[in-house]
Amino acid sequence: MDISIVGTGYVGLPAGTGLASKGHDVTCIDIDQEKVDKINSGECPIYEEDLPELLEKMVSEDKLRATTNTEEAIRDSDITFLAVGTPMKDDGDINLDYIKQATKDAAHGIKNKDSYHVFVVKSTVVPTTTEEEIIPILEEVSGKKVGKDFGVCMNPEFLREGTALNDFLEPDRIVIGELDEKSGETLEKVYEGFEAPIMRTSLKAAELIKYASNSLLATKISFINEIGNMCKELGIDVYEVADGIGMDSRIERSFLDSGAGFGGSCFPKDVRALINFMEKNNVDPKITESTIEVNEKQKTRLVDLLEEHYPSLENKTVAILGLAFKPGTDDIRQSPAIDIISELKQKGADVKAYDPEAIQNMKERHPDIEYTESYQKAIENSNAALIVTDWAEFNQISRKDLKSMDEALIIEGRKIRHKLDDGITKGINWP
Ligand code: UGA
Repeated sequence: MDISIVGTGYVGLPAGTGLASKGHDVTCIDIDQEKVDKINSGECPIYEEDLPELLEKMVSEDKLRATTNTEEAIRDSDITFLAVGTPMKDDGDINLDYIKQATKDAAHGIKNKDSYHVFVVKSTVVPTTTEEEIIPILEEVSGKKVGKDFGVCMNPEFLREGTALNDFLEPDRIVIGELDEKSGETLEKVYEGFEAPIMRTSLKAAELIKYASNSLLATKISFINEIGNMCKELGIDVYEVADGIGMDSRIERSFLDSGAGFGGSCFPKDVRALINFMEKNNVDPKITESTIEVNEKQKTRLVDLLEEHYPSLENKTVAILGLAFKPGTDDIRQSPAIDIISELKQKGADVKAYDPEAIQNMKERHPDIEYTESYQKAIENSNAALIVTDWAEFNQISRKDLKSMDEALIIEGRKIRHKLDDGITKGINWP
């Protein structure tokens, strides 16, 4: 099929490249000319596992291209995916500005088309947005009738940053929210080569499935962190408890890794948006609110543990190992490291920080701390090191590294499980 995708970010580009590899003809649309030029020269503008190689191949085989001309791309395609961002506003609601502008641009394309077109919302939007915000714009600007001249679907994504391409190509399920049968049938054809169950549902159920999925995963993390805090008191290892719980197939082991709390551009934003949406609909969001509350406290629990060792942090040198919200990315959005550094600075500590990918981004947030080129340099002469992101290289912390510290204290906010007898290694939620 001829497919156009609006937005070449962490969702649009892996999806577009994945669809091209399944035999579709894909045109990616972006307002950023530089990004468009990069893609057309076979260069991948974002950091994602396996994406650069496949993107280059698809561009060279002329299965994938990019443009800034929305109207033309829509006119020449059968179906359009909307994959632009929905960032969080200060009040926790989602910002629909990009969605609305991109929808208007797309509607101009639909206006100039003679044949039936399907518009698919892939961006994360709260329930009823497609029906109440997006469809009215499409109808008004195109002058055409939804359900007759064009169809609409809501097709949420479940991609993780870093492994988005593989998550796209091998999904657990494909959710198709449809305005009507014809819209859903058309979208289902796009996924013909995928080996995943396809669920057809309403537009607003699809929208809610996305929020409920992310919120439940976030809740699993907060729950295991709460259990972990209990484990710490009892002197037992929360990872053993998680393994024991996770052997129950009804519960499952994933997303039960306790640590310094969840971050990223999705969980914190989506849980907050769901809370706001529930409140607006007179539903008391007790569990989802607690998920955020537990997470907020969890983020600086590492500092609490540090203070058990050093009642005053004044002039203590603390190394932060890991700044990204998870390994495999340079993304620091909502990363626990941001709050941990603020708290340490406020308590008078000198902070040294290291991350293999995310230093540049953190410098914009915390320009006034010292950044080092290796973890060894960060922990050298420090009074303690806090592991905030579980980058594999931190497994290599050696006895020699410990000897270089003023005091050999390491507190793991992510379980690295290295055992060094001549230093003190504490876990956030394990002995
Ligand atoms: C998440 C979801 O996993 C995706 O399914 C979803 O599509 C995406 O949000 C989105 O809405 O776009 P992502 O934010 O990329 O993906 O990252 P995850 O790998 O899910 O990790 C999120 C956070 O939870 C990280 O800070 C991670 O360290 C933390 N985490 C994860 C834990 O603390 N414990 C765990 O067991 C798992």
